[in-house]
Amino acid sequence: MNALLLSEYKHLEIATLPVPVPEPFDVLVQVAACGICGSDVHGYDGTSGRRIPPIVMGHEAAGIVAAVGSEVSGFAVGDRVTFDSTVYCGVCDFCRKGEVNLCDDRQVVGVSCGDYSRAGAFAEYVAVPARIVYKLPDNLAFAEAAMLEAVSVALHAVAVSELKGGETALVIGAGMIGLLTLQAARVAGCSQVFVADIDATRLKFAADLGADKTILASGAELTREILRSTGGRGVDVVLEAVGRNETIAAAIDCVRKGGTVTLIGNITPQVNLPLQKVVSRQIRLQGSCASCGEYPQAMELMAAGKIRVRPLITAVAPLSDGPAWFDRLHSGEPNLMKVVLDPRTDSGQSL
Ligand SMILES: NC(=O)c1ccc[n+]([C@@H]2O[C@H](COP(=O)([O-])OP(=O)(O)OC[C@H]3O[C@@H](n4cnc5c(N)ncnc54)[C@H](O)[C@@H]3O)[C@@H](O)[C@H]2O)c1
Ligand SMILES: [Zn+2]
Ligand SMILES: [Zn+2]
Repeated sequence: MNALLLSEYKHLEIATLPVPVPEPFDVLVQVAACGICGSDVHGYDGTSGRRIPPIVMGHEAAGIVAAVGSEVSGFAVGDRVTFDSTVYCGVCDFCRKGEVNLCDDRQVVGVSCGDYSRAGAFAEYVAVPARIVYKLPDNLAFAEAAMLEAVSVALHAVAVSELKGGETALVIGAGMIGLLTLQAARVAGCSQVFVADIDATRLKFAADLGADKTILASGAELTREILRSTGGRGVDVVLEAVGRNETIAAAIDCVRKGGTVTLIGNITPQVNLPLQKVVSRQIRLQGSCASCGEYPQAMELMAAGKIRVRPLITAVAPLSDGPAWFDRLHSGEPNLMKVVLDPRTDSGQSL
């Protein structure tokens, strides 16, 4: 089969690899769409250390069941499916409690980090355990389905924030995750959602996707603007989707006393913590990792038009265009959002 192989850092090539043979509990999926994630771009150049070559990356995928392992029930050849990017063991204490994103033996599809290496979906076929596979509704296009992973991340972040409805919210960062988190906060019943970024183009997306107010600022200016908009009180919840020193600091300054700061962004490994502010203002800092069972909800919300992903898809391109798209994404070209690769086609297509 054709696969997009990261043979060394910053070097992707179309390679011929054997079609994976499904293990007894696996499903073999013929890939019809696989999104390029920011983490793939940060793995491609070696900065994250989580895509040690050689590796076929890609964890945001959808396709058609091509074969099932001998012990698999509930799936048949021809089913349209997607799968969770997290491969959980199903038997550890966390898995048994349903906290599969915290699994002791957690692996991620398309990741190679030293502890393990698991081939991903920038290929014609990928084999994954049946327990992480979900059937797709007929009306969901494969390219949209490839966004389910990111939508689930956003829904999970809102779920761990334990909103009751009626809250004011600030989303910091209007990247892919922030723009989906904005929509998830709306679905959760937030009365007002502010979105902040330092890139005006991204904020245009936020406005189109339902932000009540967009704020082109960071740091003290962002805090001033939020305090002015909330009568000096601060928002009930901040959903932080960048992960830098200045954005974490702003998140803590913008939340009200007793409010919640949910940390999704993790682009830097370490940040400073203004400890006394957090303690004396009794702020809850809540981490959010991947997703945990939100796929069915994500499908329903997308089918109902309550979470929109089409405006966020920049292109659907053939696998052979993968190296060029990685270069463009890596160079930070503005206006690029999600690029989805379809290994079944030789030419680009519209949705
Ligand atoms: N917790 C999880 O499970 C999870 C899952 C996926 C991604 N992430 C993380 O979420 C973050 C966002 O991912 P993404 O795919 O949306 O990335 P992205 O690159 O598409 O978006 C990041 C956004 O942050 C903005 N930004 C940068 N500096 C800023 C600042 N000082 N103030 C305000 N905005 C600023 C950028 O302009 C951009 O719009 C990353 O750190 C990523 O690693 C976490
Ligand atoms: Zn991803
Ligand atoms: Zn487990």
